[in-house]
Amino acid sequence: MPAGDGTQRNEHTTWLTQDRHAEAYRVLLVDPRSHQMVARLGYEAAHKEPRCLVCHTNPDLLSDTSTAAAEERSAGIGCETCHGRADKWLDPHTGWFRLDDAEKKKRFEEHGMTWLRGPRERAAQCVRCHIGTGGKSDVNHDLIAAGHPRLEFELTTFLANMPKHWSERDKKPDLELDAWAVGQVETARAGLRLLQTRAADKAKPWPELAEYDCFACHHDLRAQSWRRLPTRFQHGRAPGRLPWNGRYLSLLPGLVEKPPDLTDKWAQLVLELAKPLPDRDRVVEQARNLLKLLDSLSTKPMDAERFKALVEFLTGASSPARSDWDAAAQVYLALAALRPDANNAASSALRELGDLLAFSPGMNSPGTFRENDAFDKRLDQALDRIRQTFLPQR
Ligand code: HEC
Ligand code: HEC
Ligand code: HEC
Ligand code: HEC
Repeated sequence: MPAGDGTQRNEHTTWLTQDRHAEAYRVLLVDPRSHQMVARLGYEAAHKEPRCLVCHTNPDLLSDTSTAAAEERSAGIGCETCHGRADKWLDPHTGWFRLDDAEKKKRFEEHGMTWLRGPRERAAQCVRCHIGTGGKSDVNHDLIAAGHPRLEFELTTFLANMPKHWSERDKKPDLELDAWAVGQVETARAGLRLLQTRAADKAKPWPELAEYDCFACHHDLRAQSWRRLPTRFQHGRAPGRLPWNGRYLSLLPGLVEKPPDLTDKWAQLVLELAKPLPDRDRVVEQARNLLKLLDSLSTKPMDAERFKALVEFLTGASSPARSDWDAAAQVYLALAALRPDANNAASSALRELGDLLAFSPGMNSPGTFRENDAFDKRLDQALDRIRQTFLPQR
């Protein structure tokens, strides 16, 4: 039951009983996978290791040695991680609920409380850990090979999967669609910033294998391989060279009209990263160029025409779903966010695509993706059906 001020008064219970963030420290302390990981990496203990604590507890507390900080850490990813240090806002903030958003936002800023109303502000919090900021905050190939799950992020899906301890007050019908578009841009930016820090830090492994398409290396060899099809050699990358995983950029061409220079700048980065030893400085610079480009892009509100164009981009002849598994997964998540409400045919068409992308039992890689003509035919059919069910019939 929401209280009169719009809060639920059960935020703490929701977080504690349903939210994975409350478990994040315990996972380091008791999960056998954490113990195996640190043993393989030669660390002392996961719950004492800054490279784990940085994302599994409040990153702002990392160098705080006080008992209060130790106590807060043991509660996992607590309230102040996302809402900001509470010492200045804890008392006054309960008196702000009648203020309008602009006035409220001002108070938030003055008191160190993080403004989380818009999708961009929310994304900025999530990507700190779900993509990583570099330095200690980095699930790189060393950590993955030692057993860490590979990180994957898409704002709308992750917000939907996080048990909400708030009510969405200004729920406009298009809120989710706009959040998806903003999330794409913010996620792409976070990915590029991480690449920059990986390239800039000479103490870090280079080239960083987690930047590349995992399934370029981790796959079995077949007589007929989709990795030899023309769709694989985008941006002029030659056969046998390292393929950068541009999954967080892959849908941007469908999002912004005529993205100025996006293809050129993207290709430069791909070709540098394809070299056996990419030049670190050049990668930093090329990532910076792309970031500048993203700063200048604005995503427009999603109207019917844009929705149609986007669905056509995602499902049409040059759909990114055909280029590799990661881009296909981004297409799937996008379509899940864009799915028209209460349209059962659309849901079942989407499920078909999901089934095609799912890993087989016991596998941690897409063993069957584009393995033969029959798969490609099913992929075409699934995309066609999605287009037909998502777009109103003429
Ligand atoms: C850049 C941030 C980051 C770093 C660094 C990091 N993790 Fe994680 N970890 C995550 C995120 C985010 C997830 C959840 C991934 C998901 O489900 O999408 C996760 C998941 C896990 C899981 C699986 C939890 C579950 O419930 O399935 C384990 C175990 C784990 N991490 C242990 C560690 C250990 C041990 C270290 C240090 C060696 C570490 N992590 C470093 C962000 C990080
Ligand atoms: C992983 C990030 C995260 C964590 C951890 C978190 N929150 Fe939130 N919280 C959010 C987001 C996002 C919103 C939505 C904010 C908005 O729309 O203004 C929110 C909203 C709220 C609101 C409603 C604010 C409003 O103005 O509507 C309250 C109250 C709240 N959180 C309390 C808590 C408490 C108490 C905890 C700890 C038990 C906590 N939160 C932990 C992300 C988080
Ligand atoms: C301080 C780091 C941090 C921040 C900030 C953060 N997360 Fe997480 N998140 C994690 C970790 C670590 C886990 C895994 C915890 C576990 O399984 O024990 C996780 C788990 C999750 C899960 C469950 C994933 C699964 O596979 O079931 C969702 C959903 C999620 N986070 C969404 C969000 C969203 C949305 C935001 C932003 C509003 C956010 N997180 C902010 C670190 C973070
Ligand atoms: C350029 C090639 C390359 C890329 C790209 C790459 N890896 Fe690896 N990976 C390796 C090599 C080499 C090893 C060490 C294998 C060994 O010890 O036998 C390894 C080891 C591993 C291991 C531990 C061994 C195993 O088979 O379980 C995992 C898990 C793993 N990688 C996952 C990933 C993931 C996930 C990605 C993408 C984020 C990725 N790798 C990208 C080359 C690569």
